[in-house]
Amino acid sequence: MTDRYAVIGHPIAHSKSPQIHRRFALQTGQDLSYEALLAPLDGFAATLHDFMAAGGRGANVTVPFKEEAFRLADRLSARAQAAGAVNTLSFRQGEIHGDNTDGAGLVRDISVNLGRSIKGQRVLLLGAGGAARGSVLPLLQEQPACLVIANRTAARAQQLAREMGAHGHVQAGGFAELGNQSFDLIINATAAGLSDAVLEIADHVFAPGCLAYDMLYGRQTPFMAQARRVGAQVADGLGMLVEQAAEAFWLWRGLRPETAAVLAALRQS
Ligand code: ATR
Repeated sequence: MTDRYAVIGHPIAHSKSPQIHRRFALQTGQDLSYEALLAPLDGFAATLHDFMAAGGRGANVTVPFKEEAFRLADRLSARAQAAGAVNTLSFRQGEIHGDNTDGAGLVRDISVNLGRSIKGQRVLLLGAGGAARGSVLPLLQEQPACLVIANRTAARAQQLAREMGAHGHVQAGGFAELGNQSFDLIINATAAGLSDAVLEIADHVFAPGCLAYDMLYGRQTPFMAQARRVGAQVADGLGMLVEQAAEAFWLWRGLRPETAAVLAALRQS
């Protein structure tokens, strides 16, 4: 019998997850189906339970349900606990296991696809919302020389740094407090690009040879434009999307799909 998986979100029609997972399944010869499920804003739990009752084996969770999935899970991985959010659910013997593969996807895209080791690098994380939160532990595990979180609302960055303090040393503040520091890797986890808002980051914050990584994809953000202008290497978040999916596929199927061809196909379409 074909094993069923799904991504649940609101909205969901735009999601690339079904085509990514179908390509993974084809490539690895796995007999599975993967669909997109639109849950009503007040109906995530019901949608999830219906899918489980219909024989679903696991699900990805996207905006705006990642925190609700975190609360619903019976068991949580360490990285889901650190993220406070869940993007991958596995149904095992009637229990819901929650994990978060977003940060691992980010790290893998940077270190493998882009070939940039994070170890010993000065890393700046912009933002303190859900996207930033999920990245802190996986980034610290790569042993950067330092990790600084900067956010429009400084207090949110400081709060996030305090919560992550057990996992490693994290500095935090507002954009202005970056002073004359510069970084080898700058990750934009803010939503500013969605509204074409400019981040108040000085040009010198991009060290020579810096990699500027925007988690958004499908658009040129002001952050990317600034990074390009100052000569930084620029990457969007499409590779992270494919890699977080590959990590979920591995959790479900015990197989690691080849991501390069899938990423290339997505870039073309
Ligand atoms: P997500 O789960 O996508 O991270 P979020 O929790 O709403 O969403 O967080 C959005 C992040 O983008 C926050 O860091 C937010 O900064 P504030 O904490 O100051 O709100 C940041 N953000 C959104 N719009 C921004 C803008 N125009 N300029 C700078 N930062 C912005």
